[in-house]
Amino acid sequence: MGYVGWRPARDVLLGGLRRLEYRGYDSAGIATVTPGSDVVDVHRAAGPLDNLVRVTDAEPEPEGVTARTGMGHTRWATHGPPTDRNAHPHRDASGRVAVIHNGIIENFAALRAELEADGVELESDTDTEVAAHLVARALDELGPDDDSAGFTTAVRHVVNRLEGAFTLVFTHADRPDEIVAARRSSPLVVGIGDGETFVASDVAAFIDHTRDAVELGQDQIVTLTREGAVVTDFHGDLAPTRPFHVDWDIAAAEKGGHDFFMQKEIEEQPAALADTLRGHLVDGRIVLDEQRLSDQELRDIDKVFVVACGTAYHAGLLAKYAIEHWCRIPVEVEVASEFRYRDPVLDRSTLVVAISQSGETADTLEAVRHAREQRARVLAICNTNGAQIPRESDAVLYTHAGPEVGVAATKTFTSQVVACYLVGLALAQNRGTKYADEVEREYHQLVASADAVKEVLATAVEPTRELARELAESKAVLFLGRHVGYPVALEGALKLKELAYMHAEGFAAGELKHGPIALIEQDLPVVVVMPSPRGRATLHAKLLSNIREIQARGARTIVIAEAGDETVRPFASVLIEMPAVPTLIQPLVASVPLQVFSAEVARARGYDVDKPRNLAKSVTVE
Ligand code: M6R
Repeated sequence: MGYVGWRPARDVLLGGLRRLEYRGYDSAGIATVTPGSDVVDVHRAAGPLDNLVRVTDAEPEPEGVTARTGMGHTRWATHGPPTDRNAHPHRDASGRVAVIHNGIIENFAALRAELEADGVELESDTDTEVAAHLVARALDELGPDDDSAGFTTAVRHVVNRLEGAFTLVFTHADRPDEIVAARRSSPLVVGIGDGETFVASDVAAFIDHTRDAVELGQDQIVTLTREGAVVTDFHGDLAPTRPFHVDWDIAAAEKGGHDFFMQKEIEEQPAALADTLRGHLVDGRIVLDEQRLSDQELRDIDKVFVVACGTAYHAGLLAKYAIEHWCRIPVEVEVASEFRYRDPVLDRSTLVVAISQSGETADTLEAVRHAREQRARVLAICNTNGAQIPRESDAVLYTHAGPEVGVAATKTFTSQVVACYLVGLALAQNRGTKYADEVEREYHQLVASADAVKEVLATAVEPTRELARELAESKAVLFLGRHVGYPVALEGALKLKELAYMHAEGFAAGELKHGPIALIEQDLPVVVVMPSPRGRATLHAKLLSNIREIQARGARTIVIAEAGDETVRPFASVLIEMPAVPTLIQPLVASVPLQVFSAEVARARGYDVDKPRNLAKSVTVE
């Protein structure tokens, strides 16, 4: 984030970084600019933000000196290990120019070699540092220039030479009231306050101070002063901007009495589901948020691809069950990082549904771009208003889960699932594969899911926590499911890996006998997501047999089953009951105990639930 204004910059930056820490916590640093100083002051520390706070506390600003311009960064390491030396900000050799960076400068090796050939000594292993040296050199080449545009011009020269995805923010010792930032692919928003301006990867950084923001587009440069922001493109022409008002406040980004964010976010699921569904049935028809496609174009769709990563991919797997069932068109689901590298068959009648909480995941964004190059239509499901993926899509449906600070996706996952179902209903109504009253009935069932999730939160959380504490020292946990229970099993395993660093695998229960059953040993915990004995009687019977098979081999069976399912009780070492709901709604209720389980195991093992090691909430590099 960057700040120019009237408040003490250190306080603003450390407060803002606290809210951005979910994006990376390998190291943190700030740079501040004090009028009259020859250099930009930099403080950096490897590890979490608290380490940086200790460093700044130990080195307070001199009596009577308060910097009111500066920038701060939390790092998720790509080039160079997470050490103090590699922490951002980086400065040029004179210390006058400093830079922070998200993304990857792909041609940094060539640029580094060029600088080294010029006699420049680089101090870090990062791809970032070259940008500071290049801007300093460009400023020298531009010559003495009192006009403030000189700094922006130098940045423009440099960003035009960079390849890759990047957001860069620069400060200059000779320009104590100015910040210049540039954006290509990685996110960047500007905050406009009263006599102060901000720039950050996420509005959360400045939400304490202003909710008036401006979205930056691809390949834009912003020059910030106390008076406001001037946005130009990479050619130097003024660029159109889109101002917006942030519709959530500071309370939404705070723990609100919970021990950790993930716990709060798990509990917010009924509201997130209700908010995501609200307003999408108008006069008996499903409506999306943005649609730059005609009804005829939607009707012409004859194939759907869903692309997403991680948890969003699991939501995509559930989309397949709903869309194929309701619309009778084939749906393929693929992890976004694989999609564009295997030449998928796409044309104008293909709909690519891109699911991304952040709307900025590089793998998903590149998949969207590939799909559009092949003339496919793209529909984005996203939780972040105006993010890059929805901006580049033909249609958008927003989940209204609010800010999710915990790195593990919870409320955004269940919201993505209902959003996928809404897309399925929109397609079904368009194609005429469902009557209007059927669409309406399905919609109301989705709305009722919020109450079912409320119920499971009230009944299943405590027993699950107890179980998690008991199993916290297990070496591994397996997860089994069939039909819509299969993506739930995959998601349960991902959560446990991510948070508890425990070996966890999810399987389609029918696959067990084709290999994974060899993993079963005495007392191995196996979580089984049971289908409803009413809704899916045949599958229920088959899964009962699977449970018996693993139990016969000594596994400890933890069964998540519909309340009143007495047939499963004798085979469950532990039974977690969930309310009876329609088949497609079951993943929403069954996921809740699995979220609680992974969080509690992580806690019992002494790990930071909100900031699991090696991860970052938004993955803006490929
Ligand atoms: O922002 P996105 O939905 O595109 O993020 C995709 C994944 O990185 C994300 O779901 C990740 O798997 C979660 N941390 C899992 O809890």
